[in-house]
Amino acid sequence: MRFDVISLFPEFVAQLAAHGVVGRAGERGLLSIHGWNPRDHAEGNYRRVDDRPFGGGPGMVMLIEPLRAAIRAIRAAAPDVPTKVVYLSPQGRRLDQRKVRELAGEARLILLCGRYEGVDERLLQAEVDEEISIGDYVLSGGELAAAVLIDAVARLQDGALNDAESALQDSFEGDGLLDCPHYTRPVEHELGPVPEVLLSGNHAQIARWRRQQSLGRTWLRRPDLLDESMLSKADRVLLDE
Ligand code: ADE
Repeated sequence: MRFDVISLFPEFVAQLAAHGVVGRAGERGLLSIHGWNPRDHAEGNYRRVDDRPFGGGPGMVMLIEPLRAAIRAIRAAAPDVPTKVVYLSPQGRRLDQRKVRELAGEARLILLCGRYEGVDERLLQAEVDEEISIGDYVLSGGELAAAVLIDAVARLQDGALNDAESALQDSFEGDGLLDCPHYTRPVEHELGPVPEVLLSGNHAQIARWRRQQSLGRTWLRRPDLLDESMLSKADRVLLDE
C-alpha cells in the first residue's frame, strides 16, 4: 500500500516509516510513505501557499493551486494505481476501526494535511473523496491525524504484525469489545499477584475469564460499544456474575 502525504512539514509524517510496526512493514515491502510539500509546487519568489480569507476574519487559507499541482504530481508518479484522496479535518467523519479496516483495503491513499484556518473549499470539493477526523478536538494541523491513520492502517496490512492473531484480539476488532487485561512475569510482585486462572493451564477457563473481563471492561468504560444484540446467552451469564 502506498501513502502520499501532502503537508507543509512532510518530514514529520515520513518519520513514521523509521520506527516500529510501520517501519517494519516498510522494510517488508508492504507499504511506502511519500511526503509532498505544496511549497515545492507554488509559484513566484515567495512560493506562497496561503492567503487571507475573503470576507475577513483571522488566520490564513491554503491556496488552491499549490495543492492541486501537488495532487497532479502525485497521480503522475504512479498513474495506474487507484487512489483515494482523504482530507484530515475536525469536520470529517470520525475515524473508527471499521473505517480503518476499509481504508486498509485501498491501494493508495493521498492524505491532505491542512494548516492555518483551512483549505480553499473549491479544492476540497473538486479533489477530496473523503474527509476524516480523528476525534472531537482541534489539532494545529492534519499531520498528527495522518500519522494516526497511517499507523492504524499499516498494522492491518497482511504480514505487518509478527503474530497474525494479535490484530484480531485487539480492542474493537472481531466483536467490537475492549481488550482484556494482560499479565507477565513475575507471578508475585509487591503491586499484586497474577490472577490464578491465567496460571491454571485450563484453556477453556482462561478463555472464559478473558471474555468476562472484556465484557466487564466494555460495560464499565464504554457501554456505548455494547450492542445487546451481539451478546450471546453465555455472555449475558458472564456479565451477571
Ligand atoms: N486537523 C485538525 N484537527 C483535526 C482532527 N481532530 N482530526 C483530523 N484532522 C485534524
